[in-house]
Parts: sequence; structure tokens; C-alpha cells
Amino acid sequence: MKVTYYGHSCFSVAVADKTLLFDPFITPNELARGVDAKKIPADYIFVSHGHEDHLADALDIAKRTGATLVSNYEITVWFGKKGLEKVHPLNHGGARAFDFGRVKFVNAIHSSTLPDGAPGGNPGGFVVETHEGNFYYSGDTALTMDMKLIGESTRLSFAVLCIGGNFTMGVDDAIKAAQFVRCNRVLGVHYDTFPPIRIDHQAAMIKFKAADINLQLLRPGKTCTFRLRR
Ligand code: NI
Ligand code: MN
Repeated sequence: MKVTYYGHSCFSVAVADKTLLFDPFITPNELARGVDAKKIPADYIFVSHGHEDHLADALDIAKRTGATLVSNYEITVWFGKKGLEKVHPLNHGGARAFDFGRVKFVNAIHSSTLPDGAPGGNPGGFVVETHEGNFYYSGDTALTMDMKLIGESTRLSFAVLCIGGNFTMGVDDAIKAAQFVRCNRVLGVHYDTFPPIRIDHQAAMIKFKAADINLQLLRPGKTCTFRLRR
């Protein structure tokens, strides 16, 4: 599966001729100024929770591409009020089969107030199962024992984990998260964008390597490919 990183926690996965875009936050992100949000393709847009740094460009990209926005119930209602018609609500523990595969909304420990102060329900992550491989995106979260349930039920080709600390898991907890979900290929996200979440890349790479986990830290606009793991 080909993954493109757009900075902060925004990335897309190409699968089954569809483009799945996660947590679009591009135009306000200084580190992603080489990325043109107006050119990003999407068939589906997944929003993990209500914070601005996960949805700033979601409405514009959804309107331009006609993508379906998938999030928790409260967030899909909020986007509906902004004129978005193609939305699909999920809630924790629920899964839905789409034309590219199956998506389950899973637990995250974080908060989720929307940019205008509206309640954004509870934050989550996504487990995506497809014929080309399965992956887990943690969203913003603390390390949680619930991640073990994901590892028990789904064989992941890769995991996308927050590693920046301060607001979410840092490097050490992300390594434990990778072990909990039983996946040794990780794309790190939610680091460097703001001063409190700046990390030492070299130190992070060394720690992951010592745990026998391959960590990818991509520059915004760059891609990588994860092999299918059966
Ligand atoms: Ni957040
Ligand atoms: Mn965040």
C-alpha cells in the first residue's frame, strides 16, 4: 500500500483504486507549505476527532473532490451543518464495509472539542481492513490497553502512530503501542508541527530500531510503500 504524508497527522493511503485521506491539516501548517491542499485527491476523508489540527482542510477538500467524510456521529453532524452531504457516521466499536474495505472506529484517549466550541463527541482511531492489507491509525491518543485488542484480531501491514508527546503518546509509548497492536512497521505522525511536540528524529529512530520496529519519518509530500503482511 502506498502512503503519502502531508505533514502533522495528515496522510493518504491508496487502496482499491481509492484514495483514503486522514486528518487533513495542511494550509495552516508551516511545515507543509510545499504541499498544495487544492491538489490532494480524496475519495474518503477520515477525521479522528474534532481538533483543528485534524480537520482544517477537510471541508474544502471534501467539497472539491466529492469525497465522503467519515468520523464519529457528532463530527459528521457538524460537517453536515456546514453543507457537506456525503458523510458517514461511526461510533466506537462499530465497523462498516465500504467499497475499498472495512473500517472500524476504535478507542482513543484524548479530547475532541470542535474549532467553534461545539462538542465533537469522543475521539477515536481507525482500523482499516482491505484486500491489499490492513492498517491502524491511532488518531491522537494516550497509550491504552485497548490497543491489544487490535493486535489480537487484525494482522496489520502498518500502523500510523502519534509520537510527538505532550498532547499524545511520545516515542516510548508509541513503541509500546506498536507492540500492543503487534505491528513492526510504523509511520510516525503528530510531531514537530508545534514547539511542544518537537522531537529528536535520530533518537526516535534509534529507540524504535532497538525495539526491532521500523519507523518511517517522512517529509511532507513524500511517499512510502508498505508491503502486504498476511
Ligand atoms: Ni487533538
Ligand atoms: Mn492533534
